[in-house]
Amino acid sequence: MINRTTIIQNLIEQKQAKIYLEIGVSTGNNFLQIRADKKMAVDPQFKIPGGYASDESTNYYEITSDDFFVTQSDILETNGLDVVFVDGLHTYEQSLKDVLNSLEYLNEGGIILMHDCNPSSKASAHPVLSEARQMPGFNNAWMGDVWKAIVYLRSLRSDLSVFVLDCDCGVGIVQKKSPESMLNYSQEAIDNLSYEDLEADRANLLNLKKPDYSIE
Ligand SMILES: C[S@@+](CC[C@H](N)C(=O)[O-])C[C@H]1O[C@@H](n2cnc3c(N)ncnc32)[C@H](O)[C@@H]1O
Repeated sequence: MINRTTIIQNLIEQKQAKIYLEIGVSTGNNFLQIRADKKMAVDPQFKIPGGYASDESTNYYEITSDDFFVTQSDILETNGLDVVFVDGLHTYEQSLKDVLNSLEYLNEGGIILMHDCNPSSKASAHPVLSEARQMPGFNNAWMGDVWKAIVYLRSLRSDLSVFVLDCDCGVGIVQKKSPESMLNYSQEAIDNLSYEDLEADRANLLNLKKPDYSIE
């Protein structure tokens, strides 16, 4: 089955990537399965059963992604990043910030993946989790409005190729190269987009691709 973990691992192997960063790790369901020479885990509250300990190849940072980028800038400047999985706070603003910070250190040929880019209901796409929980149809799967970060990058960054694989809640792919197509939204228009706008034009806004789409 194609999911975030198989996509990330295939890319690490395809690109012979060495440095992997995961923002938002929780129980380690994905992180612990990933194999890479150097792995970094960032989460303000790890929930890994049995606990965690850093060693030569794996480092755990129990802080927010914003604090990680401030406090670890030396190591990030030295090693760069090859593959980054952005899956922390599921809001438009924070997921976009995580991508923009990661881009600062992305090595040549590097790739950023974003989870939860294709929400399946208005409740799952609500930007505030506590309010989403009160909405009809909420089933504990919270994707927030990460999808708007995709629209932002596709509208305002002509130096990035951005699309979303249609599997596992939507796996966004961001690479430093010419986009095949762009959107035409201003920052203000993106801020005002609603879930209804996504539903009306989902495939186009997200540049949706089949799960087995070949990533160059
Ligand atoms: C959906 S879970 C991550 C799941 C994991 N990536 C996986 O695929 O199994 C989201 C995690 O993001 C963490 N988180 C929330 N705010 C964050 C922030 N500002 N920076 C980093 N992580 C954050 C939460 O503590 C939570 O554990």
